[in-house]
Amino acid sequence: MPGLVIVGAQWGDEGKGKATDQIGERVDYTVRYSGGNNAGHTLVVDGETYAMHLLPSGILNPNCVPVIANGVVVDLDVLFEEIDGLKARGVEAADRLLVSANAHIIAPYHKVLDRVTERFLGNRKIGTTGRGIGPAYSDKVNRLGIRIQDLLDEKILRQKVEASLEQKNHLLVKVYNRAAIRPDEVAEHLLSYTERLAPMIADTARVLNDALDQDKVVLFEGAQAHHLDIDHGTYPYVTSSNPIAAGACTGSGVGPMRINRAIGIAKAYTTRVGEGPFPTELLDETGEKLRADGGEYGVTTGRPRRCGWFDALVVEAAATINAFTDIFLTKLDVLTGWEEIPVCTAYEVDGERTSVLPMTQSGFHHAKPVYEMLPGWSEDITDARKFSDLPRNAQAYVRFLEEKIGCRISGIGVGPSREESIMLNDLI
Ligand code: GDP
Ligand code: IMO
Ligand code: MG
Repeated sequence: MPGLVIVGAQWGDEGKGKATDQIGERVDYTVRYSGGNNAGHTLVVDGETYAMHLLPSGILNPNCVPVIANGVVVDLDVLFEEIDGLKARGVEAADRLLVSANAHIIAPYHKVLDRVTERFLGNRKIGTTGRGIGPAYSDKVNRLGIRIQDLLDEKILRQKVEASLEQKNHLLVKVYNRAAIRPDEVAEHLLSYTERLAPMIADTARVLNDALDQDKVVLFEGAQAHHLDIDHGTYPYVTSSNPIAAGACTGSGVGPMRINRAIGIAKAYTTRVGEGPFPTELLDETGEKLRADGGEYGVTTGRPRRCGWFDALVVEAAATINAFTDIFLTKLDVLTGWEEIPVCTAYEVDGERTSVLPMTQSGFHHAKPVYEMLPGWSEDITDARKFSDLPRNAQAYVRFLEEKIGCRISGIGVGPSREESIMLNDLI
């Protein structure tokens, strides 16, 4: 059972970092395969909190090889800040980390473009993290990207930066009224990392396939989430990559037959950061209470997360398209104290009832949630370690979600730290 992928089943921040860390002790390789430092994955280990943006969460396990694979976009400033930050806390990452030669670089101009584009869009903005993700992936698809391997050939790097900036400087100066960016300055900045980065650069697709041949356990750590996927999410309010399980194949260079397990991470309610449709969003004091109880503020940008009840249609769609074998349900403890808990099990869309997600963007925007009410519980559940430790109503809530999602729930989070979990089925 060597290949596993973890995927967010909603709009991100489901607790993927904790889930990755939780099963990390038995993992030989942890691989980030999509996105960049738009991610913020939180791990709480021995009372210490770590926030990972670019490094795979498995980095805290000293026996695990962390891999940044080809599908990731890498901001070198952030990469080394994160490596140095961990070193200061006693975690040596630099000697184990592998970075794909084919991964693309987020250059300083991508960050500038991300911010000015959002401003230009006005009320049609996406609400991006402002980390340059969209512009870096645009350059990749436009074949104007700079890759990690380009750092190994200064002449080529300089040519590529120049080619990439030629168009962008016209745009920056003539459309956005900004100063032009000098290619030599960008090239110098990127080259300043070459010496430190060179030993980490690897043919990671080959490394991972060799590891799988040797029956090593490889965990693909999804960032973002199913409904932020560029193809399957709530387009255009999405990120610019493929966080879904299939993205682990293109994003790392392993064939689909090598991934045996796809674990969806779903929060016991729903949150979203940035713009876009969110049928169960609560814009009143109920939403504020969920935000306060769940500490729902972004790890990357600090933005308050939009909060709402569990939407079974959203998670069912993710379970279907990712072929989840298991669900890890997080933050069940946050729901303690409600007399009744609504769960969305259908939408009314323009007078019609549906139990699957609408096909079109307009349908999604018009969707009104239809709720079923489940009885709540008042007992503190943070010390529960077995399913039978949970109050009966909490057990019934989990079983109800399981039935609506159509996938077994194999793990339940009852608190942020590594040990605050209930495992119903082994994940490896
Ligand atoms: P990720 O992006 O999917 O890794 O999730 P984030 O780290 O952005 O957000 C999840 C937040 O919930 C973090 O603050 C975690 O420490 C916390 N968390 C994860 N699982 C649980 C849980 O079961 N209960 C509680 N109370 N907090 C959790
Ligand atoms: P993790 O891995 C939550 C959202 C942004 C915005 C949209 C596009 O921590 O779950 P981008 O900067 O990617 O171009 O922004 O996607 N977004 C996330 N929301 N969690 C994340 O990552 C996210 N990564 C991107 O808020 O709406
Ligand atoms: Mg997050």
